[in-house]
Amino acid sequence: MASTSTRGIIPTAALPGPQKNHAKAMKTDLLGYLEQIAPQGDFLKLPIPLVPTYLINHPDLVQEVMVRQSRRFHKPFNVKYTANQIFGDNLFTSDGELWKILRSVLQPGFSTERLQDYSQTMIDYTEQIMAGWQPGESVDLCAAMGEVTLRTSTRCFFGLDLYSSQAGDNLLRFIELFFQRISGLPVPAWVPIPSNRELKRIIRDLNQFFLPIIEARRQSGEDHGDIMSMLIQAQAADKTGYITGQQVCNEVSNLFAAGYELVAYSLAFTFYLISQHPAVEAKLLAEIDRVLATQPMSTEALAQMPYLEQVLQESMRLLPAAAITSRQAIMPVTIGDYTVPKNSMILIAPWTLHRRADIFPEPEKFDPERFSADRQTSHPIPNFSHLTFAAGPRACIGKAFAMMQMRINLALILQRYRLIPAPDYEFQPVFQFNTRPRDGMPMVLQAR
Ligand code: HEM
Repeated sequence: MASTSTRGIIPTAALPGPQKNHAKAMKTDLLGYLEQIAPQGDFLKLPIPLVPTYLINHPDLVQEVMVRQSRRFHKPFNVKYTANQIFGDNLFTSDGELWKILRSVLQPGFSTERLQDYSQTMIDYTEQIMAGWQPGESVDLCAAMGEVTLRTSTRCFFGLDLYSSQAGDNLLRFIELFFQRISGLPVPAWVPIPSNRELKRIIRDLNQFFLPIIEARRQSGEDHGDIMSMLIQAQAADKTGYITGQQVCNEVSNLFAAGYELVAYSLAFTFYLISQHPAVEAKLLAEIDRVLATQPMSTEALAQMPYLEQVLQESMRLLPAAAITSRQAIMPVTIGDYTVPKNSMILIAPWTLHRRADIFPEPEKFDPERFSADRQTSHPIPNFSHLTFAAGPRACIGKAFAMMQMRINLALILQRYRLIPAPDYEFQPVFQFNTRPRDGMPMVLQAR
């Protein structure tokens, strides 16, 4: 158990101010709102009509929901409904037996050996992106990190570089449609409105693109060393009937969608934080230069850069791109001293948990030393407090993949460039299912 104490449910009525002010604040700036109310209790009932909704903000309560009682919770109906209309059944939103099968089929695709194979792709695309850069020019870092992420993941997942292709554009549009839908009223896919017609066209085009590739690969039996090949092998061995060609297609699109924005924005946030902290930057550049002076980039080289990993962990603590996760109770569940009714929505917000001053002293300070081996020995961070990739059985399957890609991107780019925010750039993170910088991130490339 963590040493911090939990502080009971504070019902909505106990939160200060009229209810309508809460609703308005939640709508205009959800992260700001949660940040403001979180210090008032570890278990807060939020003023949301119809569905009882709670924010939990303590590592012990997180452990209850994500680990000990994880079977009593499912992914929330609105996320399931919206995502399934777009991606079909998939690992991210399925529950029960289907989830178990999909997770066990996909897990080997992220093994240490597979990651070792993907590392060269990650290195190659970082070099390719930089080949198009000129010292002194300004780039939109969100777009650039989006490009490197799209090319890397489509190559590792499907064996194809889908950048600037119809299929790549369709995948990106898929993600946008998901965000638009999850932020508005859920409209069934059969209602003939323009966005539904567009969705139908994209689903048809992506099926027409992927299904023949899947079928050709199935017939040839050739292993391309990517996630798609692994799923096709699982399809051949499957006795349950769950792993159809369509399921393989859904899964590869969903895997791409689950990681794309989170990786691109986490990278952009990290470059920004480094640019604002000269002492961190100096220490990091010294480490990268020392290691890469005697060897090319590789997984062995990365293992010699512990400070790089600390910088990334601290950046994702302070600015978690997956700022809020949620669960829905499938039965009444007792968490700590309280029982929440069936269908309750539980929000777990890394954004607020990572700002608990009793766990992360001076929480607004960007301090990569929090994650150093020494500090971890003298002041260990309690389990279930650092939740960037969630915890328990539904923790992120792509964590090691994402960490490796981001460390490779950061080290190779910083070896050559300092990134300086454009003169009138104002950094402002906003929440739209994920956290993203408002209006992109213009950065000037200064050759080192
Ligand atoms: C910085 C990058 C990333 C972050 C911060 C991140 C974060 C997360 C979080 C917080 C969850 C749990 C969501 C929940 O409980 O509702 C999750 C799940 C998941 N992530 Fe990631 N993720 C990242 C990259 C990736 C990548 C690259 C992939 C694809 C390879 C990926 C695939 C998934 C999938 C499929 C799940 C659902 C797993 C399951 O339910 O069994 N993620 N991720």
